[in-house]
Amino acid sequence: MDINLGNSFSQIVSALSQIIALENHKRMFHSWRVAIISTEMARKITPETVNQVFYAGLLHDVGTINLEENLLQQLPWERQIVLPQIREHPLRGARIVEEIPGLDLAANIILDHHERWDGGGYPHQKRNEEINEGAQCLRIADAYDLCLEQNPQADCWKIIKIMSEYKSKEFSPSVFEAFSEVIAHDIYCQDVSRDECLQEVAGEIQKSLPEVQLQAKSDVIGVTLRVFARVIDAKHQYTSGHSQRVSQYSILLAESLGLSHDEVSQIKWASLLHDAGKVAIPQTILNKPGPLTPEEFALVKTHPELTAEIIKFITVFQNLLLIVRHHHEHFNGDGYPGSLKNTNIPLLARVITVADAFDAMTSPRPYQRMKSIKEALAELVVQKGRQFDGQIIDRAEEVFLALTV
Ligand SMILES: [Fe+2]
Ligand SMILES: [Fe+2]
Ligand SMILES: [Fe+2]
Ligand SMILES: [Fe+2]
Repeated sequence: MDINLGNSFSQIVSALSQIIALENHKRMFHSWRVAIISTEMARKITPETVNQVFYAGLLHDVGTINLEENLLQQLPWERQIVLPQIREHPLRGARIVEEIPGLDLAANIILDHHERWDGGGYPHQKRNEEINEGAQCLRIADAYDLCLEQNPQADCWKIIKIMSEYKSKEFSPSVFEAFSEVIAHDIYCQDVSRDECLQEVAGEIQKSLPEVQLQAKSDVIGVTLRVFARVIDAKHQYTSGHSQRVSQYSILLAESLGLSHDEVSQIKWASLLHDAGKVAIPQTILNKPGPLTPEEFALVKTHPELTAEIIKFITVFQNLLLIVRHHHEHFNGDGYPGSLKNTNIPLLARVITVADAFDAMTSPRPYQRMKSIKEALAELVVQKGRQFDGQIIDRAEEVFLALTV
C-alpha cells in the first residue's frame, strides 16, 4: 500500500478527534475552536511546538470519553470541576495521547491543560512557569469557548474584558496578551466565534503546520490505530478490548482463507475501526440488559455507516469504507444497513462479521451469558448460510478451536 505517512497520520488523528465529538456535536466545535485559538497563540509564544499544540487542542478532552453521559452536559461548570473523574481527565488523556507516535509533547500539553497560573488548577497544582507553555495557550482557549457559550452576543472586546478578570489568576499575563491579539486582530480568528466556520479554518491551519516528526520505519499507522481502537472501546463498559480481539480473530481467519498480504492488512485496520460509530450510541442502550426497543435498535443500526463517515476523510483508508459499512450484513440478506446478500457483501466484511459475532459470544455482555469457545462455535455453525458465509465458518471451526489448546 502506498502511503504518504505524514498525511495519513494527520488524517487519522483528526478522525480520532471526531469520535470524541460523536457523543455530542458541540464538543467537536469546542475541540476545533480550542485547537485554532491555541495554535494561533502558540505561533507567537512557542512557535517550535505549534503542531503539537494543534493536535493537543484537537484531542485535549479525549480523557473524558467514558465519563457518564450528560455528566458534562447537565452539571454546571463549578460542580464539574470538583468531581474526581473530571479532575483525572487530563492525566487519562495524556496517557492515551503519549502512545500515539510523534505526539509526546502534545501529551504533556494535555496533562497541563487545566493547571492555573496561580496554582489553583489540576491535576498537579502547578504554577507559573512550571506549566507547559502550550498548555497555557490551551487553558485560555478552553476558557474562551466557555465564555463564548455564556455570552453569545458579546463581541471580541467584551470577551477580552470579561476574561481579563482572570489575568494573573487563571492565565499568565503574557499569554493573556497573546490571546487578546489573536482574537482581536488575527485573520483566522475573526471567524472562530461562528461554529460553521470552524472546520474549514481548522483544516487550513492543519495544512499550514510543519509535519509531525515520525519514524518512517516504525508501524506508525498500526500503533495509532490501536490507540484509536482503545478509545472506541473505552466508551462502553462491555466493549473493552473488543476491537483489538476482532482484529486478531479476523487476521487469523483471513490468513486461513489464504487471502493476500494486502487483504490481511486491510482487514487488520478495518476491524480495529469497525465499531467507531458506536461511540455515538448512548451507554444506556449498549449496556441494556434486556431486549432493545425498535427505536433503540434503529439507533444501534446506524453505527456501521457512522464508522464509514468517520474514516472517509482518511485517503489511505478509502478501500476500507465498504468493509466497515457492511460488517453487520447477513449472508441471507437479513442484515443491515444494505440488506446485501451472499457475495454482494464484501469478502472482508463477511470475515469481520464472523470474528465480531465470535467475540460478542465469548465476552461478557449485559444481554447474554458468556459462552465457551465450543458453544460459540456451535452457534456459528447453526447460522451457516443464514447469518454467515459457510466457507468462512468452515475455516472458523479450525481457527477458533485451536484457541482452546
Ligand atoms: Fe479539559
Ligand atoms: Fe475542553
Ligand atoms: Fe458493529
Ligand atoms: Fe463489533
